Amino acid sequence: MPDQIEWVFDHEVTAGDDYGGSLGYYTDERFLREILSFVPKSAEKVCDVGCGSGIVGLYIKDNIGKNVEVTFLDINIEQLMGINRGDVRVIEADILDYEPTEQYDCVVSRLLNHYFPKGRQQEVVDNTYDMVSEGGCYINALPLAVDDETQNAVNGMFSILEREVTGKNPHRHVMKKEEAMGIWHVSGFKNVEVHENPNHKLTHYIDEFKGKFSLGDDSIKKIEDFLLKQPAGVADYMGIEKIGERVRIAHPMYIMTAVK
Ligand SMILES: C[S@@+](CC[C@H](N)C(=O)[O-])C[C@H]1O[C@@H](n2cnc3c(N)ncnc32)[C@H](O)[C@@H]1O
Repeated sequence: MPDQIEWVFDHEVTAGDDYGGSLGYYTDERFLREILSFVPKSAEKVCDVGCGSGIVGLYIKDNIGKNVEVTFLDINIEQLMGINRGDVRVIEADILDYEPTEQYDCVVSRLLNHYFPKGRQQEVVDNTYDMVSEGGCYINALPLAVDDETQNAVNGMFSILEREVTGKNPHRHVMKKEEAMGIWHVSGFKNVEVHENPNHKLTHYIDEFKGKFSLGDDSIKKIEDFLLKQPAGVADYMGIEKIGERVRIAHPMYIMTAVK
């Protein structure tokens, strides 16, 4: 398993592959543990929105130290089928038009919001707000931009990747920190906080996308060339580095927390 998230903590990674499955991409347990640390011990019902392989929700279920009901929601049924366990619930739905029939003490998402264009970001958070019970919490682990340049670069990277994978021309949007906080507030969330940790870095070589998304060398080169032409400040923020023939990024991840 590649070391996807760089940390400088000195304790050992113990879960890793157990929580990775074939679809889980960012499997470092230390980041999962950090997300778990924000889940209130009183939570009884948790929903993992945009769950993918279910790595975050499963980690919470197995490590919170009590029985907690976890529901997984994703637009892609193939992702949900990877969660092959009888003790959880799965919902195939698009968060943009999902009308929840119940509420959760804690809704968690990781690496979801950048899937949406700028104009839909508010809806994603508004719809999530409707899923949280009064006094419940929203925990979201996501990349954020710090200025126009970093925003263009991160958006560009995700958009090129999507174009190469699907042939479509999406407008992906990584929010700036203040923008995200504003959106959370407009939804009605309170106590909105952005937790920064310089050790939270989503680290990978671009050529690892080859296997994950069945991409050819041309596609990898397009993404690498795009990253390598970024100005120094952006390269520094996103941790863009050429190592031998390979291009690696280590871009910061944030954890946003809020209560309803
Ligand atoms: C990058 S993956 C992250 C998966 C997982 N949360 C993790 O951290 O490993 C993003 C997930 O969001 C899901 N997704 C994208 N658009 C969605 C939507 N409109 N509604 C619900 N899920 C969506 C995708 O199918 C994918 O499984």
